[in-house]
Amino acid sequence: MVDQFERQIHYLRVSVTDLCNLKCQYCMPEEGVEKKAHQDILRIEDYLKLITEMTKLGIDKVRLTGGEPLVRKGIVELVEGIGSLKEIKDLAITTNGVLLKKYAKELKDAGLTRVNISIDTLDPDKYREITRGGDLQAVLDGIAEAKRVGLTPIKLNVVVINGFNTDEVQDFIQMADEDLDVRFIELMPIGQVATWTKDKFFSNEKLLEQYRDLFIFEDGEQYGPAKYYQKKEGKGRVGFINPISNHFCSTCNRVRMTADGKLKLCLHTNEEFDLKPLLELDSATIQNTLKTYISKKPQRHHMNDQEFVPIVRDMNRIGG
Ligand code: 5AD
Ligand code: SF4
Repeated sequence: MVDQFERQIHYLRVSVTDLCNLKCQYCMPEEGVEKKAHQDILRIEDYLKLITEMTKLGIDKVRLTGGEPLVRKGIVELVEGIGSLKEIKDLAITTNGVLLKKYAKELKDAGLTRVNISIDTLDPDKYREITRGGDLQAVLDGIAEAKRVGLTPIKLNVVVINGFNTDEVQDFIQMADEDLDVRFIELMPIGQVATWTKDKFFSNEKLLEQYRDLFIFEDGEQYGPAKYYQKKEGKGRVGFINPISNHFCSTCNRVRMTADGKLKLCLHTNEEFDLKPLLELDSATIQNTLKTYISKKPQRHHMNDQEFVPIVRDMNRIGG
């Protein structure tokens, strides 16, 4: 379907839980999050019902996110269900990778095509610090297993935090190979980060300037929000996602569904539509209502504006 700004909306990001087995400093409050009551969270069959209707409106790409999607009970069943919808061309997951060693094979067999793995440092101590207790080795094992079972191309997501991991950029670039892209993401002032000082931000433009000699711009297909470069030495690609310095709103093709059943049309607005009441309705009404909601997708975000009001939902409750 097309929104009022002529954008083709065909990508749905689905958060399957707010819970996570880590508590990354930029994502979760230190005290963690309260587990929601069962009746407030979509059941696996609710997700499947809503996603099925969305595929009839043109959604052909789905990404499962969290919190951490692999802590959600029934995740494999959900992957199987979505994977069996004939309209779906691409079914991926964004995970912290901690449980990937255990689940990679099962997910691949259930129909998952690819994984994105969030990892912000390659130093075990710093990893423990930024995730408030996480075990880096588990993630590295998860990456290896995802490669082994062919959940590729893997994308490593690295959120760039000035003074924390800006000294590790080269090590991350080294990791890129034929099965693995590395993507640097600008830190966004959202949720927890809304209160961080400005000196934690480091623009990708500056980063690229410093490491410019290491790659060549890729002329090939540039899809999604990342700009990709080929490494000069060795195989692999390096991507830059610049939600702040160079927003990609004009080509935005996505909407989001939260674990408590809300439709979010833009990561950076507080507006949400409750989808739970739709579950009682017939297929045609669900589709019409969804169409009406999606047509309200805002033109762009205003994060760079003086009067910008940061988003109240923490990232673990949106799914990135
Ligand atoms: N800025 C940029 N990226 C973020 N993520 C979570 N919070 C932020 C933020 N404030 C990333 C995670 C993950 C993806 C889902 O979103 O690291 O890779
Ligand atoms: Fe968990 Fe991902 Fe948030 Fe870290 S960024 S706390 S891994 S949901």
